[in-house]
Amino acid sequence: MTLCIGLTGGIGCGKSTVAGLFAEHGAGIIDTDAISHRLTRSGGEAIAAISAAFGKDYIMDDGALDRAKMRGLVFSDAAAKQRLELILHPLILEQAKVQLQQLRTRPYIVAVVPLLPESPAFRQLVQRVLVVDCDEHNQVERVIGRSRMGGAEIRGIIAQQTPRAERLQLADDVIHNDAGLDSLAEQVAVLHQRYSGMQNSN
Ligand SMILES: Nc1ncnc2c1ncn2[C@@H]1O[C@H](COP(=O)(O)OP(=O)(O)OP(=O)(O)O)[C@@H](O)[C@H]1O
Ligand SMILES: [Mg+2]
Repeated sequence: MTLCIGLTGGIGCGKSTVAGLFAEHGAGIIDTDAISHRLTRSGGEAIAAISAAFGKDYIMDDGALDRAKMRGLVFSDAAAKQRLELILHPLILEQAKVQLQQLRTRPYIVAVVPLLPESPAFRQLVQRVLVVDCDEHNQVERVIGRSRMGGAEIRGIIAQQTPRAERLQLADDVIHNDAGLDSLAEQVAVLHQRYSGMQNSN
C-alpha cells in the first residue's frame, strides 16, 4: 500500500493551502471536506439518512443539505452532532478508501482529515500524522479574511475542536504556519523529500 499521511489542524490553520503545495510536488490528495460536501449535496449518498434522522426541514428544496441550518443545530447540540457524524463518518471513510486505491501509483498520499484527532478509524487508515499548526490569533484573522464569520464565532469553533496541545501530541511531523507562504512552501519541500524516501511499512 502507498504511504498515506494524515494532514490535520484546527480551522483555518492552513490545511488546504498545505495540501495544494504537496499536490504541486505530485502527491495524491484526498480531501475529506470535499468528500463530505459531495455526500450532502443534492442527490448525495448521505441525504436520505440525514432526512430520516433530522427531518425534511434540514434538506433544502433542491435536495441538498441545509448546511447553515445544520451548522446551527450541531453547534449547540452535542447529541445531534454525534448523530450526524455517525451517518457521515463511515461514508467519508468508505470514499477515502476508494480514493486511496485510485491514487496508489502516486509516490505518497496526503489525506486532509480535520477530524483525525477524534477519529480512530481515520488514524488507522494513515501511517503518519502531519499537523499544521498556528497561533490562535493568526487562525482567527485568516478565517475572518476568508469568510463572513466573526471573531466570536470562530473562537467558538476553535473551543469545540481538539485543543492545540493535544493535537500536537499526535503529530509525527509539524508544519508551523505563523510566517508567510514562502516559509510554508519550504517546510513542505523538506517533508516531500522525507516522504518520497519512505516506504510504507504496513
Ligand atoms: N502562511 C500564510 N500566510 C498568509 N495567509 C495564509 C497562510 N496560510 C494560509 N493562509 C490563508 O488563510 C486562510 C486559511 O487557510 P486554509 O484554507 O488553507 O486553512 P484550512 O486549515 O484548510 O481551513 P479550514 O479548516 O476552514 O478548511 C486562507 O485564506 C489561506 O489563503
Ligand atoms: Mg480547508
